[in-house]
Amino acid sequence: MKILGIETSCDETAAAVVEDGSKILSNVVASQVDIHSRYGGIVPEVASRQHLITALPVVESAMTEAEAAWQDIAAIAVTIGPGLAGSLLVGVNLAKAIALAHGLSLIGINHLEGHIYANWLSDARSIFPCLCLIVSGGHSDLVLMAGHGKFEKLGRTRDDAAGEAFDKAARILNLGYPGGPAIEKAAEGNVASFSLPRAWLKGSDDFSFSGLKTALLHLVRDNDFSDPSLAAEAAASFQQAVVDVLATKAIKAAERLGVKQILLSGGVAANKALRDHFAHNSPVPVLIPPPSLCTDNAAMIAACGYYHFQSGKIDGFDIDVIPSLSIG
Ligand code: KG4
Ligand code: ZN
Repeated sequence: MKILGIETSCDETAAAVVEDGSKILSNVVASQVDIHSRYGGIVPEVASRQHLITALPVVESAMTEAEAAWQDIAAIAVTIGPGLAGSLLVGVNLAKAIALAHGLSLIGINHLEGHIYANWLSDARSIFPCLCLIVSGGHSDLVLMAGHGKFEKLGRTRDDAAGEAFDKAARILNLGYPGGPAIEKAAEGNVASFSLPRAWLKGSDDFSFSGLKTALLHLVRDNDFSDPSLAAEAAASFQQAVVDVLATKAIKAAERLGVKQILLSGGVAANKALRDHFAHNSPVPVLIPPPSLCTDNAAMIAACGYYHFQSGKIDGFDIDVIPSLSIG
């Protein structure tokens, strides 16, 4: 069964064809990063206008690369939220138009659930119950997954998301945008050079990164950072602080709940320090999608759509975008 996925929740215009929820036949991502980087962050109005220009060609490329005809497609899965309203609207309306024109089923997908389903696109198989850590530009959620479509949110960020913290830290250190890859590339030297705070929020599965960001801001303000090796050590210390908190809290929750696996997902899960930390310290197996499937893509949306389709969760043409949608 082939599903076309469409993803336009933020600044990537993406379409993919996935077979049986796991085999990627095509996965096309048109990134807007060069357009937004000159502003140091995403400009929502610019993002939605760019989706309008690229969405249809991206879908056509995904169909061509997959060598798929419309009669081969069982359903269209499209992200309905969370995300930027204008950007989501482009994808949802395109999906409706194509579904109507070709008589296809339409499935609305929660972007955060989609991130989790990137773990079904690799060979490894998930075993329930598992603990999902979704770390992206807008979210840092700890979610218990009891089965397909069964999510219970345990914790979330109380302020900045992990990816947002990386983006802000990179701006403070003048490393450019997007911040996560920039910090990762710059990070070098002794991770203990600078003593940065970790918000443990004991007794809670929530996260908080705004204090860490402010501490970095004060560090840069009060010291001479003209020596690039100091900025490299500050980047490394910052990255280590984020990794320590995410991994320690997720692993503790996994032990408490007795889950069989930990599933990482979202753009920050592309971070090598985070991946390595989990691989070396988790008492249960950890699944992490390859970096290109951690960041926004439509293959994960199609994979999630497959499990909706299997359980009969098909939507009508009245689905709408839900910019503040959460999980669980
Ligand atoms: O999941 P994603 O592509 O989009 C959202 O749903 O938000 O995540 C984007 C976020 C950005 O904040 C970006 O800086 C961060 O993920 N990110 C990383 C890395 N690659 C992307 N953070 C740390 N290390 C990375 N290698
Ligand atoms: Zn995302």
